[in-house]
Amino acid sequence: MLYSEKVLDHFSNPRNVGEIEDADGIGEIGNAKCGDIMKMYLKIDDNTITDVKFKTFGCGAAVATSSMATELIKGKSINDALKLTNEAVVEALDGLPAVKIHCSVLAEQAVRAALSDYYTRQGIDPVPIVGEIKEPEEE
Ligand code: FES
Repeated sequence: MLYSEKVLDHFSNPRNVGEIEDADGIGEIGNAKCGDIMKMYLKIDDNTITDVKFKTFGCGAAVATSSMATELIKGKSINDALKLTNEAVVEALDGLPAVKIHCSVLAEQAVRAALSDYYTRQGIDPVPIVGEIKEPEEE
């Protein structure tokens, strides 16, 4: 089987799909090669991610990884969300085929882009905290 049960589950029944109208941070990231786009919305209260939603126009693995990424950061502190790596997302999904690893990087970067936007809105330079947002390279 190419995909784990968890990947298939998050693909066919993605969690936290949608938009947050009054989001505190919105991040959009795309991969120029595959053309997939991910948009992440965060609601942040007192350094805690109280709500998160996403919209992904992309492949099944992109949907599954963004869904899992939202589950991993919901209710967590900003600091925890900043530590979210694509490897952690892949692990939580019980693995991804090598050609699909870049999809998980898209999820990681979408979270970071939304956090970046959050800091920018507060008048804080996000780069020292979040780092540069990179468009993931295709593997
Ligand atoms: Fe591009 Fe999955 S093929 S994000």
